[in-house]
Order: sequence, then C-alpha cells, then structure tokens
Amino acid sequence: MTMTAGPAVTPESSSWATWLASRVPIDLEALRHFSNEPVPNHLKYWWWCLGGTPALLFGVQAVTGILLTVYYIPDAGSAYESVDRLTTVIPFGWFIRSIHRWASHLMIAAVILHVMRVFFTGAYRAPRELNWMLGVLLLAVTLGFGFTGYSLVWEQLSYWGVTVAANLTDAVPVVGGVMGRMLRGGESVGSNTLTRLFILHIGVMPTLLTLLLAGHILLIRLHGVTEFEFESPDKAPDEAARTYPFFPHHAMTEVIIGVGLAFALTCLAVIFPAELAEKANPLETPAHIKPEWYFFWTFRWLKLTSLTFAVLSIGFAGFLALIWPYIDERLRRRNTASEASVYVGAVAVVVLLVLTIWEAMASS
Ligand code: HEM
Repeated sequence: MTMTAGPAVTPESSSWATWLASRVPIDLEALRHFSNEPVPNHLKYWWWCLGGTPALLFGVQAVTGILLTVYYIPDAGSAYESVDRLTTVIPFGWFIRSIHRWASHLMIAAVILHVMRVFFTGAYRAPRELNWMLGVLLLAVTLGFGFTGYSLVWEQLSYWGVTVAANLTDAVPVVGGVMGRMLRGGESVGSNTLTRLFILHIGVMPTLLTLLLAGHILLIRLHGVTEFEFESPDKAPDEAARTYPFFPHHAMTEVIIGVGLAFALTCLAVIFPAELAEKANPLETPAHIKPEWYFFWTFRWLKLTSLTFAVLSIGFAGFLALIWPYIDERLRRRNTASEASVYVGAVAVVVLLVLTIWEAMASS
C-alpha cells in the first residue's frame, strides 16, 4: 500500500508562504475579504470608534498582567509584601504595576464612554440586540476585573472592600449564603478568598473577556457598524462614498490611538505611580471604607438603602440594561418617533453621576 506524501516540492513552492499554505490550508483571499470590511466614514472620529480603545487596553493589561504574575504571591501572608517588593526592589516593577493600574482605569472609562455612544445613538437596536447583550456582559466582566485586581494588593482598603462585597453577596436571597461562602472560601475573608480572587483575575475573567470579545467583534463584522440614516434610500451616497476600507485606513486610526494611549499611560505611570497604602488588618476596620471610583455609586446606594434592597435593585437595574433593546422596541412600537431612550439614558447618567460625586466627596 502506498500513501500520498502531499504536493511535490518544487523550487517555486519552497517559500515560507507556500509552506504555510500547504500546512494550514486557509483561503487567504476569503479571509482578507472577510476582515477588510468597509467602515462608515463617521468611524474616522474617536467618539464613534471608541470600542477599539478598551480592546487595545485589554492587550496592555494582558502583557503587564503576565509580567506582574511572575512576582506576585497569591497568599494572604505574602501578597502585600510581594507587591511591595515589586514596587520598590524589582527593576521597572513600579512602572509595570503603574501601567497596569492606569490602563485598568482607562479601560473602564473607555468602556463606559463606548456604552454611552452606543446607547445614545440607538446602535443597540435590531438587528444588534444580541451584541448589546454581549456588551453588557463585557461591561460586567470589565468591572469584575477592576474589583478582583484591586483586591489582590491586600491593602486595608482593598481587604475591607472584599469584606463589603462578600457581605453584599450574602444578602442575595436564597443562594446568597452559599455564594458568599464560595467567595470567601470559608467563614471569613482570608487566604482562601485571595486564591479565589487570583484565579478569577488571571484565569476565569481573561478567558470570559476573550470569548465575549470574539463574539462581539464577529457580530460587528457580520452586521457592519450602524450607518447614519438618510431621508430616503435614493438620497444615500453609494457604498464607495459612504465608507472607507478597514485596511489600512481604519487600522491606521487604531494604531494612532494606540500610540496616544501608550504616551498617556507612560506619562500617568511616571507622574502618578501606583502607591501602596497600609497592609490589610482584619482586626481594625478603617474609618472610611472606599472602593475604586467606578464602584462609588454602589457604595452610596448601599448607604442610602439596606444591604438586601441595594443588591436586589442593582441586580434588577443590570437585568433592565441587559434587555433594554427589547424594552425600547416595545416603546417604539407604540410610537415610532419615541426618543424615550434618550430621557431614560440621561436620567441614568445623572443618577449615577450624583451618587458617584456624593460618595467621592464624603470619602475624600
Ligand atoms: C471590553 C469591552 C468592549 C470592547 C473592546 C468593545 C469593542 C467594540 C468595537 C471595536 C466596536 C465597533 C464600533 C466602535 O468602535 O464603536 C463595538 C461596537 C459595539 N459595541 Fe462594543 N465593546 C466593548 C464593550 C461593549 C459594551 C459594554 C456594550 C454595551 C453594553 C457594547 C455594545 C456594542 C454595540 C451594540 C456595538 C455596535 C455599534 C454600532 O453598530 O454602531 N460594547 N464594540
């Protein structure tokens, strides 16, 4: 019996491209066509293509996070000391840590701005409801990244922040007790909690974010980005005038944004390097427990209401955000010109801003 040994090797087929094409038989032309989508002209402006910014910052987080993991020790007895060593002894440790911290703030701010752009331009409407839902999950995972990362430092404030979060988890009806114990890894916040937060931060969340992002970008590619509405189809310019190619034009916009971000991150890291406050002390509750700025609103809400009501109302608001495209569709079915979404969005922004500023002023 003889077996075919693949295409004959000729002088022309010896280039690396031919070698790769025969080992990984992908239709490169089809791939080029699929990835080089025409992009609407308005994406030349940063406000419209804000989604690329958190994607770039996620790349920064992955690289700096892997470097930090080399020295970080996820144990309650050594975590704080390992961060201290990273900051003061390891060459450039302070820089990598500061970039990681600043990129986390910028990534969360960019995701919030991106949500606002998508919401206020109605870009979540049919057929993009599913992508909005993936987006809400992306937002939750991005905030989860911030929470778990902040906790790993094991400072007084991060330790007590975890304690408050565990108490909030306990307040979830029916399953709260079990979930709270799962988060703590026992009855109290300690080494087991830190191991869980570490696994969430470096394993579960990066995997989830990567999968959600892949789905998000695939759907964007399949639907295309929302275009401006024209009074009538015959008034719309043809595709060549309405759009420009992704490669190299839009890719170049993202490269320029990337260079700007690298410059901003370097300046922030050098001028305001990440600091290290007091080590966690489970026996001494600080006078003011303060989370990171993006959770200020939850803290203020917690202080204004009760633990159970805060958990239920925040959970309900998250659920409404998830199914918002369908609520909006109902409203518009009754009145096609309804811009109720703009009022709802404006009220949500004002409420969140007031709660955030109130908490910032109270805890400063
Ligand atoms: C890590 C977080 C995220 C990344 C990297 C990301 C990335 C992107 C990118 C690159 C686009 C293409 C257009 C643009 O740049 O604006 C986009 C569009 C979109 N995103 Fe996101 N996104 C994220 C989070 C979210 C969130 C939290 C939501 C909503 C809750 C969301 C909903 C949408 C929708 C509906 C579109 C389509 C917009 C249109 O067709 O004009 N995304 N996203």
